[in-house]
Amino acid sequence: MIKKISFSFLMLLSLNIYSQDTKSAEGSSIFTRRSIRRYLPQKVEKEKIDRILRAGMQGPSAGNQRGFEFVVIEDTNKLKALANLGPYSDPVARATIAILVVGTSENIPFPEALDYDLSVSSQNILLQVAEEGLGAVWLSVAPYKDRMEYVRAELKIPEGKYPFSLIPIGYSREKNRFIDRFDSSKIYYNNY
Ligand SMILES: Cc1cc2nc3c(=O)[nH]c(=O)nc-3n(C[C@H](O)[C@H](O)[C@H](O)COP(=O)(O)O)c2cc1C
Repeated sequence: MIKKISFSFLMLLSLNIYSQDTKSAEGSSIFTRRSIRRYLPQKVEKEKIDRILRAGMQGPSAGNQRGFEFVVIEDTNKLKALANLGPYSDPVARATIAILVVGTSENIPFPEALDYDLSVSSQNILLQVAEEGLGAVWLSVAPYKDRMEYVRAELKIPEGKYPFSLIPIGYSREKNRFIDRFDSSKIYYNNY
C-alpha cells in the first residue's frame, strides 16, 4: 500500500518537474513557432484571419507611426503566380491564403524606421498564426528590388507603397514545435 502511494507520489512529482521544465520554453508561440511550408487544402476561417491581421497591427512601431497595410490574397491563380517571386517562394502556391505586409511611408514621422516596424508586424502575424493552430512562413520580398517589382505588378501595389514580406498561411500536417536555441555564448553582461 505504502509502496503504491509513494510510486504515485513520485509519478506526480516527475510530471510536475516536467511541466516546470517545459513551461517557460514551450508555453508560448514565441518558442513553438516554426516555419511551415506545406499546407492542407482546408480553408482558414475568416475569424482566424481577422485575429491574425489584428496581431499584425498590435505591435510597437517607431513613434507609433503604424506605417503598415496588408493585402490578403485568396485567389488561387494569384497565389500560384506569387510562387515565382524568387527561388524560395514555392510555399505560397500550396497555401489557400497569404498576407502581404505592405509599408506606406506617406505621412509618417520616421520613414527610416519603417522596415523595423514591418518586421515587428510580420513576426506578430507569425506568432498569432501559431496561436491559431496554423502554420506559416515569412517569404522575403524586400529588400530584393526584382521581387518587390514582381509583387507590385501582380497585386497592383501603387507607387509609394512598399511590398515587404509575403506570409502564406494554412492548416498543416507539420506541427509548430519547440527546438531549443538558447546559446549562452551570445550573452554578455555589462561589457561585451
Ligand atoms: C527576413 C526573413 C526572410 C525569410 N525568407 C524566407 C524565404 O524567402 N523562404 C523561406 O522558405 N523561408 C524564409 N524565411 C524563414 C527562415 O528560413 C526560417 O525562419 C529559419 O530557417 C528558421 O526556422 P524556423 O522559422 O522554423 O524557426 C525567412 C525568415 C526571415 C526572418
